[in-house]
Amino acid sequence: MFVTINPPIQNSSGKHRLHDSENEPLAAIISIMRRTSFPPLIDSFGRVHTSLRLSVTDRCNIRCFYCMPEKGAEFVPKDNILSFEEIHRLARLLVQQGGVTDIRITGGEPLVRQQIPRLIEMLAEIESLEDLSLTTNGMLLAEQAQSLRQAGLKRLNISLDTLNATTFKKITRREGLEKTLQGIDAAIKCGFESVKLNTLAIKGVTEPEVTRLVRYALDRNVMLRFIEFMPLDADRAWQQDQVFTGDQLLSILQNEFGSVEAISRPDPSQPAEEFQVEQGRIGIIRSVTAPFCGACNRIRITADGAVRNCLFSASETPLRGLIRAGASDEDLLSSIRSCLAQKAKAHGINEDGFQPPDRPMYAIGG
Ligand code: 5AD
Ligand code: SF4
Repeated sequence: MFVTINPPIQNSSGKHRLHDSENEPLAAIISIMRRTSFPPLIDSFGRVHTSLRLSVTDRCNIRCFYCMPEKGAEFVPKDNILSFEEIHRLARLLVQQGGVTDIRITGGEPLVRQQIPRLIEMLAEIESLEDLSLTTNGMLLAEQAQSLRQAGLKRLNISLDTLNATTFKKITRREGLEKTLQGIDAAIKCGFESVKLNTLAIKGVTEPEVTRLVRYALDRNVMLRFIEFMPLDADRAWQQDQVFTGDQLLSILQNEFGSVEAISRPDPSQPAEEFQVEQGRIGIIRSVTAPFCGACNRIRITADGAVRNCLFSASETPLRGLIRAGASDEDLLSSIRSCLAQKAKAHGINEDGFQPPDRPMYAIGG
């Protein structure tokens, strides 16, 4: 039998904690085999991959310093970007023959690609797909939220790092806070199954805003999740001491809001730890200080059609050439499986000799 139990995840204090359910991988495998009669997407550590992050463009309408260079970003030529039909084929294959149940559309900024609602419609029709979501910077949402919802998008994550226009400009090197806020309000009105806000946690940037951002989210009844800054910036300027850690965040939250109670996590592959703050919930994703690699269920496809088994992987498997040369579904799936078989146990950010990936965040997909 090829099943192994996921390795334990390290928590912030360096102690190991086991998953809530040690039988998680086994249950996932049985459920996939029942549904598809194909083996699941499993790596050499027994992690079953059910979540696909699909990047649809590497372009973006802003230039966040933690992701893109201020000037001279290099983009993939348009001909090398997968068409909607090519994306749909890979997605259908992974759902129907690989056991993927969730798809998240990412970028760059996905909404700068023309006609995204048409792609959403195509993906939403894939049988057995359970969840379809998208991560956006929100700037084009006021115009697009309604058509995305109508096309079948279920959930939205919107990046919001600041409520201060000057800080917004410092982070993104562009104007746009007003448009982002309008986008968030438009999205909240459209009846998505969930709208969440993502806030990067960066020393010197995030501290003064924690309380205001949390209040903003609580007032709108949406979940805000702080994400520790990871070494994925195009400038390669990331330093460990720039990470505003989950522990530091919690101490601010406790000072400001009094009781901050941890809520137990039913699904270990969900990276956010959740906390009850007043009438709402706040999430903390300790991607650097308590990596969740041990429970990772994610596989990625870049806008130019490469499969990546991790944000931080040193290599990737290009599929575009294969697709355009007429490869069969079987060939494509076998390339994807070999890519996954090489997935590392953990990202190793905290280890000596760590090398950030060749591609920065905008060229991988968040
Ligand atoms: N570290 C952590 N998260 C990042 N994102 C972009 N760059 C980084 C980084 N260096 C997140 C954004 C957004 C999503 C697209 O990816 O906050 O929510
Ligand atoms: Fe654009 Fe998102 Fe990167 Fe910011 S983080 S530059 S919004 S792709």
